Amino acid sequence: MKEHRVVLCVDDDPRIRELVRLILEPEGLRVVEADTGLAGIQRLRETTIHMALIDLQLPDVMGYALAAFIRNMTQYQTIPIVALTGAYSTELIPWMAAAGFDTLLQKPFSVQALRAIVRQYLDAKRPEPAPAVADPTVELMHLRRLSREIVHDLWRYVEELNRKTVLMGQQAKLIEEMIIYTIHSIIRILETNERYTAGHSQRVGAYAVMMGRRLGLTQEELRTLELGGTFHDLGKVGVDRCVIRKPHTLTDEEWAEIRRHPALSYELLIGIPFLREVAQIAGEHHERYDGKGYPHGKKGDEISISSHCVILADAFDAMTSHRSYRRALPLPHVVAEIERCAGTQFHPEVAEVWLQELYDRGETLLEETHRQFPIGDEPSS
Ligand SMILES: [Fe+2]
Ligand SMILES: [Fe+2]
Repeated sequence: MKEHRVVLCVDDDPRIRELVRLILEPEGLRVVEADTGLAGIQRLRETTIHMALIDLQLPDVMGYALAAFIRNMTQYQTIPIVALTGAYSTELIPWMAAAGFDTLLQKPFSVQALRAIVRQYLDAKRPEPAPAVADPTVELMHLRRLSREIVHDLWRYVEELNRKTVLMGQQAKLIEEMIIYTIHSIIRILETNERYTAGHSQRVGAYAVMMGRRLGLTQEELRTLELGGTFHDLGKVGVDRCVIRKPHTLTDEEWAEIRRHPALSYELLIGIPFLREVAQIAGEHHERYDGKGYPHGKKGDEISISSHCVILADAFDAMTSHRSYRRALPLPHVVAEIERCAGTQFHPEVAEVWLQELYDRGETLLEETHRQFPIGDEPSS
């Protein structure tokens, strides 16, 4: 007579489940399969089972927890539960016993071994299952064991998750640093080719950060500001070299060529997700407070406060560095120029904090910054 007894096989390896099915079905048993602990619990709810084969290393819960869960169900207190494991050690035995396993079958197993173990345990005279209303003490013991297992599992997964999150964070940080390093290198190459702009980008970054500090920006905003200041002229990589190097007056076409660089800086940076705000600053560094700048003629608060810092820092460094047609301007001259342009070219509040910085320690500030990021050569005549 055909048997209707059911064996639940929970294993994430489909080859193992298929092997169990191929061996047990000719024996007249029905095999129901599950690839995770949760799927196993689902099968238990759908079907009455008579035996369970459980892999100890399931992707979602440990096999121990699943065995303990099954044992905690009144109707399954006495069914045979067999652990499947490829990594057997005698240390596992007390854990398996505590979780409610009857025995263990080591993987890979032979047809005979599986057939023998199923026959031995399924055909053995086993005590009747407990009555529907279980002894509360036994229930409590099962629940305690189950909660211990679940807490153990949870800790294991939390630890694993933390480890992976830390690892991913470290990798993302490394990639960000590599991108920043690469852009710095491009800027350095650009500037070493230019006699008069050596160190310009780094000085602009440094001045902008000093302004940002006086304005009370956060550490994160200061970091973005530093990168915005340092990368503002990146777009010059896409501008005709001959025009950039031309020492004398530029034609209208040549000016148009030069004026492409803020938009190019923006385009180059906007594609890098963690540099979006930096791209914004670089794209706005030739705008003006009064709306007479380029490329978009934005004005006032349409331009971010960080961009206003870089606009002023850029102009300040241009005035305090040598150019092919003039030497660096004296500080009092530069201060007078900033005072004159506050509220037109420069944001009045940014100009005010910077003027305060210059009144307080202008010469020292210039000396220190030029020592750290030396300016280019003086013009020969
Ligand atoms: Fe520029
Ligand atoms: Fe610049």
